[in-house]
Amino acid sequence: MLAGKNITVGITGGIAVFKVAQLVSSLVAGGADVRVMMTRSAQEFVRPLTFQTLSGHQVYTDLFVRPAGGAVQHIELATSSDLIVLVPATANVIGKVANGIADDLISTVVMAATCPVLICPAMNVNMYNNPIVKRNITSLRDLNYHFVEPGVGRLACGAEGRGRLADLDIIMEKINSVMAVNGDLHGLSVMVTAGPTVEPIDPVRYITNRSSGKMGYAVAEAAAGRGARVLLISGPTALKPPLGVEVIPVETAAEMYSAVMGRFSSVDVVVKTAAVADYRPVTAAKQKIKKQGETLTIEMEKNPDILAELSSMKKHQVLVGFAAETEDLEQNARLKLEKKNLDLLVANDVSLPGAGFGKDTNIAKLVFPGGRIVSLPKMDKSALAHRILDEILTFRKVGKINLFYNIESR
Ligand code: PMT
Repeated sequence: MLAGKNITVGITGGIAVFKVAQLVSSLVAGGADVRVMMTRSAQEFVRPLTFQTLSGHQVYTDLFVRPAGGAVQHIELATSSDLIVLVPATANVIGKVANGIADDLISTVVMAATCPVLICPAMNVNMYNNPIVKRNITSLRDLNYHFVEPGVGRLACGAEGRGRLADLDIIMEKINSVMAVNGDLHGLSVMVTAGPTVEPIDPVRYITNRSSGKMGYAVAEAAAGRGARVLLISGPTALKPPLGVEVIPVETAAEMYSAVMGRFSSVDVVVKTAAVADYRPVTAAKQKIKKQGETLTIEMEKNPDILAELSSMKKHQVLVGFAAETEDLEQNARLKLEKKNLDLLVANDVSLPGAGFGKDTNIAKLVFPGGRIVSLPKMDKSALAHRILDEILTFRKVGKINLFYNIESR
């Protein structure tokens, strides 16, 4: 989500400085290029060397350093940033920014910035509740500065209440959502289905398949990272929900059917990655089926084909299907594309090494109406997710669909 983004982290003095080491590390792991600025007070808590090591860059501590090449350091930092995060933000730095005071490196960089600024306050509960601090926060919110409210609990000073730095997961989620506002899918609603469905035989047994959900979760995460509102309708998986995505858990194909149909009219794009059971037991026994003869026959009936039904209902929506095949990939994929009247079908031969169920990578063919096929090399499911979203965006350019009115009118 953060790949290639320049994030400048401004650290001011508070006990929570040590927590920022993990945040910087997570931002770097997410692909961001992270620059760290520290006030003198912040350096009393953790030495710059920690952040230099984690970010891979020198730490900026002094307003009056002139970097080699003659650039003006605070302007360079301000203009090259896609996002500035003040964390932990003291009452002092919040007061400075709110009142237009720029008397050190961090406040000067924020003053010169045109990118979004995210402020993560952490301070004693009485300081946080002080009306002056409250007023400063309100003025900054009115000016479109972003905030992550501090958490409640025992503070380092021994007091109880609101003031401790918010959990890093919450800060990361906010960073992702602030960055996503500038994404190329901002304004669109994307529904993704993922994982397997589970069809009960009796209270202890069920029929399912090998889908781990990784492919669908990658699509959901990529779309959210690019600014879309994302609904993820997920069969049972062991995966952590992607940040900024609304997850609707389901078990059976019938539940997935209801969840998808009930929301279809409010979305612009559907990506049906889920491996939906084609058949389910006609009845699920109320009690555990006892061991009896040498064989057991379970009568199955057809589940609704969710994607086929969507295509008969579709208005402005783009429909993307997946096809899991083990033979005649292209031929089967073309048939599915036509039968389900899709805008794009992503076909994967799940018998190939590095492709299909449970893997972190996939090998796919993109099949378009009219018969064009693009064969992609093996790639991470996340890279494939972005490739699919890129294709969806190109539909706008050929005037195929009108769903992009949201984007056009931005
Ligand atoms: O989850 P992973 O472990 O990462 O694995 C990824 C994957 C292999 C599951 C994924 O890449 C994939 O191929 N998903 C589609 C699996 C599938 O069910 O294919 P299908 O050929 O049976 O179905 C074709 C399309 O119709 C699919 O988009 C499917 O969601 C949809 N369908 C199928 C049956 C049904 N009753 N309703 C449907 O909507």
